[in-house]
Amino acid sequence: MKENSKTVAWNFKGEKGEFFLNNPHKTTGLYFPLANEGGMMSSITPLLGGDIKTSQNTFLMTPVSVGDLHNSKSSRNFWLNIDNSIIWSATGNSLNQNILCFEEESEESVKMEAGFLWQKIIRENSKFGIRSEITNFVPVNDDKVELMRVTIKNIKSEEMKITPTAAVPIYGRSADNIRDHRHVTSLLNKISTNKFGVLVKPTFSFDERGHKLNSICYSVQAVEDNGKYPIGFFPIEEDFIGEGGSLDWPEAVVKNTTNYCKENKNIDGYEAIGAIRFEDIVLKPGESKSYIVILGISDNSSSVEEYIHTYGSILKFEEEFEKNKKYWEKKLSSVSFKSSDKNFDLWMKWVEFQPMMRRIYGCSFLPHHDYGRGGRGWRDLWQDCLALLLLNPKKVRELLLNNYGGVRFDGSNATIIGNESGEFIADRNNIPRTWMDHGAWPYFTTKLYLDLSGDLDFLLQEQVYFKDKQCSRSREVDSKWSPDDGSNQKDAGGRIYKGTILEHILLEQVTAFYNVGEHNNMRLEGADWNDGFDMAGEKGESVTFTAFYGSNLMDLSKLLLSIKEKLGIEELEIAKEIMVLIDSISGKIDYDSVKDKNSLLENYFKLCIHDISGKKVKIDIVELSKDLERKAIWITNHIRKNEWIKNSEGFEWFNGYYDNASKALEGDFPSGVRMTLTGQVFPIMGGIADDEEVEKIILATNKYLRDEKVGGVRLNTNFNEVKLNMGRCFGFAFGHKENGAMFSHMTIMYINALYKRGFVKEGYEILDTIFKHCCDFEKSRIFPGIPEYINERGRGMYQYLTGAASWLLITMLNEVYGVKGLLGDLMIQPKLVKDQFDNKSACSAFTIFRDKKLNVEYINEDKLEYGEYKISSATLDGETLELNLVNKSLVIDKKVIDELTINVKHQLVIKLK
Ligand code: G1P
Repeated sequence: MKENSKTVAWNFKGEKGEFFLNNPHKTTGLYFPLANEGGMMSSITPLLGGDIKTSQNTFLMTPVSVGDLHNSKSSRNFWLNIDNSIIWSATGNSLNQNILCFEEESEESVKMEAGFLWQKIIRENSKFGIRSEITNFVPVNDDKVELMRVTIKNIKSEEMKITPTAAVPIYGRSADNIRDHRHVTSLLNKISTNKFGVLVKPTFSFDERGHKLNSICYSVQAVEDNGKYPIGFFPIEEDFIGEGGSLDWPEAVVKNTTNYCKENKNIDGYEAIGAIRFEDIVLKPGESKSYIVILGISDNSSSVEEYIHTYGSILKFEEEFEKNKKYWEKKLSSVSFKSSDKNFDLWMKWVEFQPMMRRIYGCSFLPHHDYGRGGRGWRDLWQDCLALLLLNPKKVRELLLNNYGGVRFDGSNATIIGNESGEFIADRNNIPRTWMDHGAWPYFTTKLYLDLSGDLDFLLQEQVYFKDKQCSRSREVDSKWSPDDGSNQKDAGGRIYKGTILEHILLEQVTAFYNVGEHNNMRLEGADWNDGFDMAGEKGESVTFTAFYGSNLMDLSKLLLSIKEKLGIEELEIAKEIMVLIDSISGKIDYDSVKDKNSLLENYFKLCIHDISGKKVKIDIVELSKDLERKAIWITNHIRKNEWIKNSEGFEWFNGYYDNASKALEGDFPSGVRMTLTGQVFPIMGGIADDEEVEKIILATNKYLRDEKVGGVRLNTNFNEVKLNMGRCFGFAFGHKENGAMFSHMTIMYINALYKRGFVKEGYEILDTIFKHCCDFEKSRIFPGIPEYINERGRGMYQYLTGAASWLLITMLNEVYGVKGLLGDLMIQPKLVKDQFDNKSACSAFTIFRDKKLNVEYINEDKLEYGEYKISSATLDGETLELNLVNKSLVIDKKVIDELTINVKHQLVIKLK
């Protein structure tokens, strides 16, 4: 353990994604997630700071924002008083150790090792001859506990006497109380001790839910490796730190006081701490000693002691630790990649892991995500399903079905989403906001599901609609609705109305089609994907999402024909009211007329303000398909004709937006060139732009948005204006978050779009830049994985919880490796560049397709570049396959896959010549 002066990059160790990093504490703002699917959510720093919670209202440790990570002294500490003269924190959290942080050559060295949901910190002090190794993880079951094993070792040549004290402050209340009765709520604390530690069960919880009797018990308990109980406790923080003391210089440790209390003590009304004193030990040279600390949030205090039985020995700790490793390894075994760059392949494991984290933490419970109260928004719900479709396809059908229950009959959707799958909460507070992009994502995700499964029947399954008082896309309020009506759309007879999933999808697309502003693009409303474009509600338009809906309409029109062909259905049943929106049948209107579109939509809205008729009509599939196609073609032509920009420097691209003054957002301006990446992504991805246009967009993007400094492509150029008629993001400093950072989600969607359109070299170059930047620890300062964005200084921000991860995963599998579904058939369409093939000229992707384990290996013996090679032969488990090439892609009938044995890894070998 040398290398104690310099920060060096993390390095992977082994094949499972585990990594190590020297001096992790010398980087500010690093944190790591520890969690289980039962609801325990921790964040932990290299100094064992961070927090522990199960919800917004139940934090065991004080909630932290990223800035608190270096400011707060509250941490999972473990103190050693050595020979009554040396005060040493095994976690590094003491006054003495903090001052060493800038030393080039200090006596203290730190090393971090981590894997999927565990962290180990090894700290060594050469001057004092002491070493600690601390492992933290959350067991993979429903228990809300975090476990910590502390091992201390005498590494000097004389024996040492040690007084050990564990000390974890117990906040024990709602995050709201940080600045809402922080002190008053400490008066609610009922603090007690048992044989193993300190328990806090506040009488009430004071938060937005009112004053409620509390049933949650927060606990910090510990045992020695030989099963011995602690000898006493300092449960009150002010007693532990002493007058004038602090959490990083506590009197009880510094003075080695013995005024601790024993078990069964009750003290109420103070800030609490799980400070646990163990019996003195004498360690001979080379000897070590371990302690298990158990941090719990439990619904009933009686289960607290159970934790000791379940986890309170070295054996049990290690067993659970192994289970944890195996569990996450299995979870992450559904997809993997093998290329010439092992680091990239392992880095992708961490990307794959990120959507799982967002399912657990939502967008709220890691230190950068210091907003929200848990759960995710509508958009994120669907983004996360993309990855789940690849990682855990079995569960997704039900999830998708449930999610559709959030669609309103006006084509918008619930904005408040509960924690349970399919739980949508009615808006009782009259918050009228509609994100115009929301209706576009469900179809995209559903299409991926249909392609993977071929389950077209899913579209014909029925589901309810969501109802609250918001109607007409939140422009009006339904005065007849009351919360007692429940949150489902009803018909005139008071019955809950159900329509097919296809009907839900149709509604989302066609209502959007008519919802246009002055320039005949879809209205921006509350915002689109860019949450920061939130101040152009009246006149703003999103051209780019018009393109997205346009491509959905085109795709859906084709899908309808597949339904007819594959399911043999001629007609569909849809709600009578919806016929108004299928104008090719109910009375054609002029799509060039904004007025006609708007009034048609108004007429439709009037039909569904409160209840609907409940009557259904039959519609011919082909006629419906033609109607959608007509709409899609109109959108394509409209955007290409009206939104193409050519600026004074000769660059060309699409204008993506109109601001609230109805002016185009992009182009030449006195303050400089204005361009957005979002404006380009969906016209490219959805085939609105032709190949020549894509080439021009790439040139403009490279000129105005590409920037190695931020590791990729910026979200926008510098507008040099706090643009009040567009959105709050222009209040952010340039280069941060939604104002011109390298915003991974959009950049990955750009890469995806480029690959889709065959611009492989260009897509790969950006992907490679992002990867290299993320791995360049000196610049990015993040653990493996993709951050939400990279800021102006090149630092990775908002790690783990980002839609970018799902998109990167599907981009890698479906586009880069070209392993994808085609309504249930398997399609092989490699878009790998020469560099990605290893020294055996091979690379491969493993996935589960139609429940079968499939390893798709590409052999490129002649080391040909993308564009030069073609699929020349294919074997499945050694048997030659018939080369059924459709547009140069190999299509393997689902029947072939279905005949394969389950639970066996099958080899599909594709030769490229
Ligand atoms: C976040 C939000 C996402 C939103 C994006 C841009 O991105 O979660 O819904 O579209 O900001 O405003 P993410 O964290 O998923 O990368």
